[in-house]
Amino acid sequence: MIALKDRTVLLTGASGGIGSALCDALVGVGARVVAVGRNEARLRALASRHAPGRVVPLVADLAADGGPARVVDLVSRLQPTPSVVVLAHAQGAFGLFDEASPEALEALVRTNLVAPMTLIHGLLPLLRAHPQASVVAVGSTFGSLAFPGFAAYSASKFGLRGLMEGLAREHADTSLRFQYLSPRATRTAFNTPQVDAMNREMKVAQDEPADVAAQLVAAIVSGRRRMQIGWPEKLFARINGVLPGLVDRNLAAQLPIVRRHARP
Ligand SMILES: NC(=O)c1ccc[n+]([C@@H]2O[C@H](COP(=O)([O-])OP(=O)(O)OC[C@H]3O[C@@H](n4cnc5c(N)ncnc54)[C@H](OP(=O)(O)O)[C@@H]3O)[C@@H](O)[C@H]2O)c1
Repeated sequence: MIALKDRTVLLTGASGGIGSALCDALVGVGARVVAVGRNEARLRALASRHAPGRVVPLVADLAADGGPARVVDLVSRLQPTPSVVVLAHAQGAFGLFDEASPEALEALVRTNLVAPMTLIHGLLPLLRAHPQASVVAVGSTFGSLAFPGFAAYSASKFGLRGLMEGLAREHADTSLRFQYLSPRATRTAFNTPQVDAMNREMKVAQDEPADVAAQLVAAIVSGRRRMQIGWPEKLFARINGVLPGLVDRNLAAQLPIVRRHARP
């Protein structure tokens, strides 16, 4: 268990749908949140919902050269420094792989995988100075089960899951925790109208950001290493691990639907 009251939490993606709900939920349990995003207006609106000083906006582009290092430098001057880091930023990408430009693929991996890696690397000395600390990555079902139309995004989330699993194992004899927590489809601007239409046709359930945020905060407090939100996603993610051929066949049957929605 990790009590969040009066802790400083560094939260990326705070201007997003899940991130802003998570920011509200973290403040709700007494945390002070350093809210990272690129959209300053949205970060300021988020901060204005709470008592002064509870949410500190930090505008940063994590995919830019030196972006993660700048965040590390700024938070290292805070008192107290963050003892919980929640990585809830990401870039989405829906479409057929061969239609994405090499530049877009590189930007996706830079945002979703390289930025978390360099941010965690830079923050480790600060985190180790706390008697108890956690790093939490917000993953995705597609980090356990790669989906057609989301090949590059799935690769970035598989990478993120591997990073968190490796770090958790490397720090197993310390008080520093690494958690990989996966929402399923959630009603935010992350999903384009094409993704929403495909989800409706495939009868994919969509969660509300506030419900996801409540589950994420409970998981952060409990310290569990992994969590997949929602049935049947929990089951499919596990089946994909042990019997991927079953999932191959199921998704092959759905491929015409994916192709139809993924066409530009
Ligand atoms: N929504 C879903 O269906 C769903 C399902 C499973 C997992 N997830 C995961 O949940 C997390 C949150 O998703 P969401 O639905 O809240 O998405 P969202 O509403 O699109 O928000 C994405 C957030 O990431 C930030 N971001 C993107 N690129 C960035 C960059 N280069 N530098 C700094 N910040 C950047 C955005 O900041 P600005 O807007 O300020 O640029 C925004 O705060 C992501 O990790 C996503 O992969 C989402």
